[in-house]
Amino acid sequence: MAPSRIRSVALQSKIMSAEDAAALIPANSTVGMSGFTGSGYPKAIAPALAARIEAEHARGAPFRLKVWTGASTGPELDGALARADGIEFRLPYNSDPIAREKINKGEMEYLDMHLSQVAPMAWQGFLGPLETAVIEVAGIREDGSLIPSSSVGNNKTWLDRADQVILEVNSWQNEALEGMHDIYYGTALPPDRVPIPLIRSDDRIGQPTFRCDPAKVVAVVETHSPDRNAPFDPPNDAARAIAGHLLEFLSHEVKVGRLPASLLPLQSGVGNIANAVLTGLVDAPFENLTAFTEVIQDGMLDLLDSDKLRVASATAFSLSPDAAADLNARMSEFRNRIILRPQEISNHPELIRRLGCIAMNGLIEADIYGNVNSTHIMGSRIQNGIGGSGDFARNAFISVFMTPSTAKGGRISAIVPHASHVDHITQDVQVLVTEQGLADLRGLSPKQRARVIIPNCAHPDYRDQLQDYYDRALKGSYGLQSPTLLNEALSWHQRFVETGTMRL
Ligand code: COA
Repeated sequence: MAPSRIRSVALQSKIMSAEDAAALIPANSTVGMSGFTGSGYPKAIAPALAARIEAEHARGAPFRLKVWTGASTGPELDGALARADGIEFRLPYNSDPIAREKINKGEMEYLDMHLSQVAPMAWQGFLGPLETAVIEVAGIREDGSLIPSSSVGNNKTWLDRADQVILEVNSWQNEALEGMHDIYYGTALPPDRVPIPLIRSDDRIGQPTFRCDPAKVVAVVETHSPDRNAPFDPPNDAARAIAGHLLEFLSHEVKVGRLPASLLPLQSGVGNIANAVLTGLVDAPFENLTAFTEVIQDGMLDLLDSDKLRVASATAFSLSPDAAADLNARMSEFRNRIILRPQEISNHPELIRRLGCIAMNGLIEADIYGNVNSTHIMGSRIQNGIGGSGDFARNAFISVFMTPSTAKGGRISAIVPHASHVDHITQDVQVLVTEQGLADLRGLSPKQRARVIIPNCAHPDYRDQLQDYYDRALKGSYGLQSPTLLNEALSWHQRFVETGTMRL
């Protein structure tokens, strides 16, 4: 028999089944779960909890939880709890389709937050009490300290703040994870807050484990389950074109001396396009790269493998199943080149500004003046959430947003007269890229931005339509700083809702 991952004798006595552990969670309370983009979430307790909720509902008892996490999780957590109608309120990020549907039907409240702000807000007391923390760990050491799993997220905060703690010890996670994490305990509330002593992406400023008061631990559950991340699509023509424009731009910045040859610490967002850019960097002429980012995707592992990337700092892995299995088999090779941190550190505005990150994020739509919508479809339906894009975009050395120029088979233009929702104001958007081209917006006023965005980024099918809107706005608008035809600004979205296309 393999030696137990639970080396603390005191905590061995708390081992029980997932069902018994789920029974300890009070009805209608708040639960802080581990989990960040499909890694490190509790895989046995969440489904057991969903089954308990279904049973309670069947006998007419109310049972709906407030669920806090690091970011998105997996189908066994968000999917199972949402299907059981067990989530009343969710923060700070979701990408589960069942939960998304509930939110968009008004059946679940959702607080979509900047990911760096979740832990401070919990400590400031703004989010209310936290009854239970349910945390996946890779192991428990003799002294009761916890070896973090494949994501760190807000676990440190949930463990410290919760009244009671339930641990899920997942032996699928490689034991070589021990030593990869850097858990910083130096954060404090104003007026006692001090500078965070991290100067380079690869600095270690904390400790490798979570501390946890053993007296608060009410249950320990043993599991052996893989993380559930979705596969990435192989880069298509649009993704390759976007990556090409961006890499050419970065090469030019190096040539004119605005970026060093090793660039600056990279941040890469979620999704296929971001992954394609990382894949493109493998063949680009940059060496000795670093990453200070939120998640480590397949493309980043490729970069580490190729030795183009020296070190990557993040809060979680966000890998396809194949890449996760590969990493799991070779974890010890990466232990000194990957650092996983709490998300209030991986996404900290002070650090992002100091390091001068190059932020590269996806978007849903951008308007002709450079305002970006990352979250809402047609102004009202949530897609995922802002995630860390705001943490990085506002504080980056260069903030890049990228997208295919159309969506839904060309029926939607990603460049619109007026964004139907704004997550990133034009001041936080410095470079916009589509497969059509790149708009360098640095130093440009709103009207100058429109004159670059329309020809460079819009799809040819929509370019004349956008130019026509802009020309008429210049004549008929209330003012000429950001010319807007108020009765027409959102007419493209209205047309899509009514006819299924933004085309005239
Ligand atoms: N109008 C309507 N739907 C749109 C759209 C638009 N303008 N643009 C994209 N979509 C839809 C796509 O059709 C797709 O829908 P589907 O799932 O039904 O196929 C979905 O949105 C995702 O788009 P996709 O083209 O697959 O892009 P992606 O995987 O690169 O994701 C975002 C793009 C914006 C959704 C994603 O980057 C995101 O959630 N960003 C916010 C969080 C973030 O930036 N985190 C990183 C910080 S570290």
